Amino acid sequence: MTANADQVRDESKRVKIFDTSLRDGEQAPGITLNTREKLEIAHQLRRLGVDVMEAGFPITSPGDFEAVREIAREMEGVTVAGLARANEKDVLRAGEAVREAKSGRIHTFIATSDIHMTHKLRMDRDQVLAAAVDAVRLAKSIVDDVEFSCEDATRSDVAFVADVVGAAIAHGATTINIPDTVGYTMPVEFHAFLTELRRRCPSLDDVTLSVHCHNDLGLAVANSLAGMLAGARQVEGCINGIGERAGNASIEEVGMILRTRAEDLGGLWCGMETTEITRTSRLVSRLTGYVVQPNKAIVGKNAFAHEAGIHQHGVLANPLTYEIMDATSVGLAQNSIVLGKHSGRHALSHALTELGYELDKDELNAAFVRFKDVADRKGAISAADIEALVSDEMRTEGVEGFVLDETSVTTASGTNPRATVSVIDPQGERQSGEGEGDGPVNALISAIDDAIGTHGRLLEYHVTAVTGGDDALGEARVVCDIDGRRYSGQGVSPDVLEASAIAYLRAVNASRRAEDADVTDQGV
Ligand code: KIV
Ligand code: ZN
Repeated sequence: MTANADQVRDESKRVKIFDTSLRDGEQAPGITLNTREKLEIAHQLRRLGVDVMEAGFPITSPGDFEAVREIAREMEGVTVAGLARANEKDVLRAGEAVREAKSGRIHTFIATSDIHMTHKLRMDRDQVLAAAVDAVRLAKSIVDDVEFSCEDATRSDVAFVADVVGAAIAHGATTINIPDTVGYTMPVEFHAFLTELRRRCPSLDDVTLSVHCHNDLGLAVANSLAGMLAGARQVEGCINGIGERAGNASIEEVGMILRTRAEDLGGLWCGMETTEITRTSRLVSRLTGYVVQPNKAIVGKNAFAHEAGIHQHGVLANPLTYEIMDATSVGLAQNSIVLGKHSGRHALSHALTELGYELDKDELNAAFVRFKDVADRKGAISAADIEALVSDEMRTEGVEGFVLDETSVTTASGTNPRATVSVIDPQGERQSGEGEGDGPVNALISAIDDAIGTHGRLLEYHVTAVTGGDDALGEARVVCDIDGRRYSGQGVSPDVLEASAIAYLRAVNASRRAEDADVTDQGV
């Protein structure tokens, strides 16, 4: 069923994996990642073996610019792209952000559908064509690797798209991306569109054809597959399918289709290290606060679980009866690492290395303090616990935001729960507050609001156990309305109320970062 590792792979059939979790994914409502979180995801994407990672949209805020620049500086063995609209300011800013990359790409785009050109851009076809050419030419003067996208391509006149991409190629674009921006197309239609485009624009054969599909009709991955079958050799998408509205194609699904159905896909293949999928999915979920639905293909917690007795019986007799993929191929193998309260720094460091984390001395010290605290309260610490703690520790805001100091909640039948909290503010001062609510989490939120002067409204609240067992670490995720916008946050602790307070403070910190970005936005 799976690809034969020894089989000789035809380079012309290689599909590049372009991950845009840090750009299109981050545009999903409520997601705001800071530079450190983005870097952590970037390192994991590198382990996953993506070919290109789009690290952000540098013109949109100084924070986004910084994140792209940092990622570009640190990454090796993977191309780092920065997004730019087809105008001079955007392209220069993206160019500046990827300047220090070992392999940097400017990805510039403009819409080509009549509906976008008329109502959004207020430009005619000649103006759009000229803007595309100017942007590609400028990008090419900065980097060799230039990607050009026709936004809303699938609702555009194919003849016009052919003219625009032909001009972009003539002026130096090396990748042409055809997005289904609004998730409207269908596999057969998309295949026909791309086939016609290639017929009208033969120079497409000299560059990499890419597809970028949104999931509004649930067809993003199917359309991406149709794209590959029509000649695309780059697929764009996001981990866990996050992204604008209904999201983008799930990149892990694309990778597993190429692996599982290799023999039936005419030799198409990609370089994804699929055993890193589970860890990447968990990290992205944790840091974005976007919970993965249990029945989600490949990464949902039920994706490899067999509940019905008849299925269990079949799988025990022979896994091939109901399993088309082996759980270990996505990195779901049970890891045997177990640490306890007597484990030292060396044991933790060894476990972290085995789990693929590269922590510097300070990070290891911070992780060790956190580990000891939890080990004292919980006893045995599994690999999943360590993963949760380390990625949680990566989120610690330091001087950038508010950090939880202490909480206390009292509940009694017949009265509203009451909470007191103390929080360390970004200046290092301790702020205390108290509050009451119709539940303990609401009481905590109102106490935090009292301490730091925020007004949050809880829209969604989830709490899950990181592992099984009654001493499991609790992971809380919140989505809140803060000043009319949605923000999410996540926290891990043996105490679920403490985890909830941490999660809420992170949503508050995300709202502060978004405020800073709005104030300093370049206004383009
Ligand atoms: O969906 C889209 O069209 C995009 C482009 C910027 C590639 O995200
Ligand atoms: Zn998109």
